[in-house]
Amino acid sequence: MALDEQTLDGADGRAMAQGWTLPADWYVDEGIYRLEQERIFERSWQYVGQVSSLKEPGDYVTTEIGRVPIVVLRNNEGSLAGFVNVCLHRCAEVVQGSGHRNVLQCHYHAWAYDLDGKLISAPRSDREEGFELGDFCMERVRVETFGPFVFANVSSEAPPLAEQLGELPALLAADDMDFSAVRSLEHTEWEVNANWKIVVENFDECYHCPVAHPSFSRVMEVSPDAYVLESGRYWSRATTPLRVWPEGRQPSLPYDPAGVIDKGNFAFLWPNWTVVQNPGPRNVMAFYFVPKGPEKTVVVSDYMFGDDASPELIRQIVDFNVAVGAEDQRLVESVQRGMRSGRVPRGRLLLDSERLIQHFQSLVREAVAT
Ligand code: FES
Ligand SMILES: [Fe+2]
Repeated sequence: MALDEQTLDGADGRAMAQGWTLPADWYVDEGIYRLEQERIFERSWQYVGQVSSLKEPGDYVTTEIGRVPIVVLRNNEGSLAGFVNVCLHRCAEVVQGSGHRNVLQCHYHAWAYDLDGKLISAPRSDREEGFELGDFCMERVRVETFGPFVFANVSSEAPPLAEQLGELPALLAADDMDFSAVRSLEHTEWEVNANWKIVVENFDECYHCPVAHPSFSRVMEVSPDAYVLESGRYWSRATTPLRVWPEGRQPSLPYDPAGVIDKGNFAFLWPNWTVVQNPGPRNVMAFYFVPKGPEKTVVVSDYMFGDDASPELIRQIVDFNVAVGAEDQRLVESVQRGMRSGRVPRGRLLLDSERLIQHFQSLVREAVAT
């Protein structure tokens, strides 16, 4: 385990407690990336999609968790079920994309599985002596939900999703984040040339907001005394009130934030999922940061709104979030180029404003070490 010892020497826990960051090479190194896939993503709850896209028996979605292709579906008993989406014949992915199927038929040689993962037909298998369809069943993957969101876990040993969420659902409910009052209206995915951890860390602090997000900072209060940071075992969040402008001094805003929701709520669930509520009408946004290589991340966004949001306001709020996202993309890609240079081996956090990054990096260090 030479790699581990060397790796952990780099992530010196005492230095991190004082505010020093993880080493820069953890953001570019292939070996670290492989360890993260194995020890973080293949052991934690990963976002799969929305319950609303898995309504009828046979509705399915596919994705990858770490290195493991999975399929999540609604079975004939009406329950959500997940399987390792790898054919037991010669390992092709059985199904691809998303949609509706009553039988999961592999696109390579047409082995077919039912919605419980059991092999029900394999062309020409009747010509083989001793071949029993009943000997083959796709491996189960755990599936759980949080509100309208479906998560899966490819580890049989990981604690339940509720344990990973901890106090977060109660805190969000107390802030009037009501999943039953919103419906999914827009979904986007875009690629960012940065390590997934840089993307999470950028979400975890608003020290950069007054500098880099002018429109956001006109809507939300971003001063350090107003911006409240909290964390639990596997979650963290920031909340902040609407910015109050002196009479007659209010600049033009990207949208009218007056509504039933009177503050910004930015919650993070280890290791790479976030749920956000902007001030204004009923709205919930989920952002999922999927690693696609040491220096590439796909950002998946789901935008949900309540009936109190007019189409015009929805457009303005989505555009506002897309603009902030574009500002963040420039920042995280700039950080990636700096990390890649290796000229600053570790950064220094300002813990009053950036302690949620320290919380996140400690979880990374802990997960990679064990
Ligand atoms: S690999 Fe799936 S049927 Fe051959
Ligand atoms: Fe940002």
